[in-house]
Amino acid sequence: MEIPERNQPCWCGSNKKYKKCHAAFDEKLKLYESKGVLIPSHQIIKNQEQIRKIKESAKINIAILDYVAEHIGPGVTTQQIDQWVARITEEAGAVPAPLHYEGYPKSVCTSVNEQVCHGVPSDDVVLKEGDIVNVDVSTILDGYFSDSSRMFCIGEVSPEKQRLVQVTKECVEKGLEKVRPWGFLGDMSQAVYDHAHANGYSVVREIGGHGVGLEFHEDPWVGYIGKAGTGMLLVPGMIFTIEPMINMGSHEIFVDDSDGWTIYTEDGLPSAQWEIMVLVTETGAEVLAW
Ligand code: MF3
Ligand code: CO
Repeated sequence: MEIPERNQPCWCGSNKKYKKCHAAFDEKLKLYESKGVLIPSHQIIKNQEQIRKIKESAKINIAILDYVAEHIGPGVTTQQIDQWVARITEEAGAVPAPLHYEGYPKSVCTSVNEQVCHGVPSDDVVLKEGDIVNVDVSTILDGYFSDSSRMFCIGEVSPEKQRLVQVTKECVEKGLEKVRPWGFLGDMSQAVYDHAHANGYSVVREIGGHGVGLEFHEDPWVGYIGKAGTGMLLVPGMIFTIEPMINMGSHEIFVDDSDGWTIYTEDGLPSAQWEIMVLVTETGAEVLAW
């Protein structure tokens, strides 16, 4: 950890003297570290100005998903959703983070039924009555990143699928309840896992959430297998996503070889995902995007 002199500017970029800014905070971090706790690097702790900018980005992300919510329905293609996202993002003066990200070809991910995540929009995918679909939107505004996703039920959906969508949302809410400063990432993970399993579902292991804000994907990696009291220490100024993928059947998944992106459930049973973006505050947590 880089520690400035007490009268030097703080590492967080606040322009305050270190002694009046993060000095006591760093002492506390070092104490945890000496006990063997995994502590966050300074790099992923955001200052007030960065948080303000990230919130602006998140507002666009939310507005895009609100638009999708109003217009999605039977007969809509996932390619149309991609066009909506591209257009609204551009109108807002922002850039879709997924486009060209590691070669990803579209502006949004649209994952239908047994598609777990990273579904690639296509003219060939026409949403029909009974489908459940995740629309995952990520926005860059002035270099600041936001990321959230929602599930949509298309027309009448079977009670089984409705329950999967509902319980997955509850998993995120249960996880969120555990996010607090000087708690552990594993507190959140276990709450998500326990709720999924209590309802007879499984949790995807290989893919998780992530720190976000100054980059698309920052530390920490956010899985849902961790135990309470373990994992990275949560401190004010951290921002990360909670985005569990919950499967109706087995947790196993595979990647579609033909597009290299779409993740499917191994057993072909449906999967659901909701994603929120959370800021750890001095007193608890604030949801920045949903
Ligand atoms: N929101 C997804 C994530 O958590 C978006 C992936 S974008 C893709 O990372 F380009 F990788 F598909
Ligand atoms: Co994400």
